[in-house]
Amino acid sequence: MKGIILAGGKGTRLYPMTEVVSKQLLPVYDKPMIYYPLSILMLADIRDVLIISTPEDIGKFAKLLGDGSDIGMNFYYKTQEEPKGIAEAFLIGEEFIGDDNVCLILGDNIFYGSTLEEKVEEAARLKEGGVVFGYPVEDPRDFGVVELDENNNVISLEEKPKEPKSNLAVPGLYFYDNSVIEIAKKIEASPRGELEITAVNNEYLKRKKLKAIQIGRGVAWLDTGTPRGLSQASEFVQIVQERQGFYIACLEEIAYRQGFIDKDQLLKLGEQLRMTNYGKYIMRIAKSEGDK
Ligand code: DAU
Repeated sequence: MKGIILAGGKGTRLYPMTEVVSKQLLPVYDKPMIYYPLSILMLADIRDVLIISTPEDIGKFAKLLGDGSDIGMNFYYKTQEEPKGIAEAFLIGEEFIGDDNVCLILGDNIFYGSTLEEKVEEAARLKEGGVVFGYPVEDPRDFGVVELDENNNVISLEEKPKEPKSNLAVPGLYFYDNSVIEIAKKIEASPRGELEITAVNNEYLKRKKLKAIQIGRGVAWLDTGTPRGLSQASEFVQIVQERQGFYIACLEEIAYRQGFIDKDQLLKLGEQLRMTNYGKYIMRIAKSEGDK
């Protein structure tokens, strides 16, 4: 399975913070925002990842993440000229996806929780169709909203409904079979002029090929859309890391635990950053655990 991180857009709701810096490069406590969605793809065992951003910003992502080989990953980069919708990712990524299935994650979506890994692994095992997630929120009107029956079958999906049919928001994490490319080519732009991801999901629903997995209490899905949300996300990461001593979205650690790199490489990566707590943490992990 291939992975795509969509990290474009103008980030207007965070101006002036995002006037000259891409939203997905802003710090969430001690790491750039994109580390968090990237960590989710790595936990789903996805090693080929296409990063899509604006022509102005793509170079910065490439400078930050490189070709991925130091953490056993393969990173590719493409641009989206204008923010014409989330589903455009599959058109931009057509060649990259090839004949594979694909997971798309939005570059500003942050997840953390003990049950998450098993849920994404379950979704990544998909043979055909599409998988979305349903996450209960107080007010789902700003999101895609999924309505489920008692057996978790999808009844309806709506984008930012004024009168939501459930409290289940659809986070920006989607798994699809290869027909997503053909579907993305077929859907039409919405009244706001975008190729909506909800239109893609509705096409899977029409074909009876859409599955929804509920993620609940054990998982945090954090909002980074407003200065307040961003600051709270930073605080959340800081609190969990300081309390537990485990880092959230430490890519080097995940690469090691997933078996993408060995202990020597982990140690080397830690040493390069040894002036920081992040680097010290990596070295601690490398020194405290047996070889993989
Ligand atoms: O966060 C989950 C929600 O994301 C879903 O529940 C909605 O169904 C989905 O439409 C989306 O809603 P948003 O209103 O949050 O979408 P937004 O336009 O803010 O874009 C989300 C991220 O994707 C944002 O960081 C910018 C990036 N993006 C967006 C568009 C439309 C792009 O890189 N290119 C684009 O063309």
